[in-house]
Amino acid sequence: MPSETPEFIEDLVEWYQGVRRTLPWRTSRDPYRIWISEVMLQQTTVAAVIPYYDRFMTRFPTLATLAAASVEDVLEYWAGLGYYSRARNLHRAAQALQKNIAASGSFPQTHLELLEYSGFGDYTARAVSSLAFGERVGVLDGNVIRVISRVDGRRSEWWKPAERKILQARADAWAAEKKCDPSDINQAMMELGATICTPKSPSCMLCPLRNACVAYQHRTGKLSPSALPLARPRRTLEIWHWKPEVTLKKGAVRLIKNDYAPFLKGHWILPGTATIKTTKPKRFHLRGSVTHHDIYVELPAKNQNTSIRSRPSPQNECWIPLQNLKAKVPSSLIRKAIDTTLNLRTK
Ligand code: ADE
Repeated sequence: MPSETPEFIEDLVEWYQGVRRTLPWRTSRDPYRIWISEVMLQQTTVAAVIPYYDRFMTRFPTLATLAAASVEDVLEYWAGLGYYSRARNLHRAAQALQKNIAASGSFPQTHLELLEYSGFGDYTARAVSSLAFGERVGVLDGNVIRVISRVDGRRSEWWKPAERKILQARADAWAAEKKCDPSDINQAMMELGATICTPKSPSCMLCPLRNACVAYQHRTGKLSPSALPLARPRRTLEIWHWKPEVTLKKGAVRLIKNDYAPFLKGHWILPGTATIKTTKPKRFHLRGSVTHHDIYVELPAKNQNTSIRSRPSPQNECWIPLQNLKAKVPSSLIRKAIDTTLNLRTK
């Protein structure tokens, strides 16, 4: 019965209203503030997001200020959060939204309208439309997937599109309870997943849904809280040996559009070589990871020949002043490789 609204939604919302954390994006229903928080919260935890969020909001307090900023400025305030394409899309969407609002006079209010913008995926569009405007749609993030899988006792392969559709229909059904505000219902599900229905050792005794929860009734076995949701099969880690070249000229470092390494494809990176390995290399100075790539970095020797070997076309090569690195090169692994090389050279 994937489309039936459960009977416990009012209890869930009442629980949420009693325990809800005061968070900086919960102080108003401003769609801009909610949007930024939701994009940041896709990257990391509430506790980690708050300082970034406060700094970002001080610098870009309104949609208009974000739309008017340079992309470098936005990336600088995003640095540390990861997934920099999200920051670029966010900036692009801010400009498009600002333009449309100037023409139409208001922020788009439904998830279908919001989906038209590059910074809005299904999750973000639904979160903004329901939290800011009360659109009666469910949102599906990791917390909500866990809550629904356990309450329904559903061994869902949630990473597959067909299963996600079913889970989305369930989340929509929860949000359909007319007696409650969809903003409260969705945030209650997120809050329950973040604080009670946690991945490990959930606090079932404190859970407002325990009497209705299939997983709680099972305690052990295939439908128990510890067995749900199913673990996504992991992509195996690939080991890479990366030997970057660090060439400096007048305080600027040479970067190329990455056409040789499978990690950070298309990004500005140091030229060099990347080789796949079956075991960890013997010589390396740094180690980092990007998605499923485990990267061992061997930095150039102190007396490295800094003559330029690869000659990409001018649009695929640039020289970045060291003081601008943070804004231009979001990957901390590349910045670390440059910093460490320069430190080794001055020793
Ligand atoms: N995680 C994602 N969205 C959230 C929100 N609005 N409040 C708390 N945690 C969240």
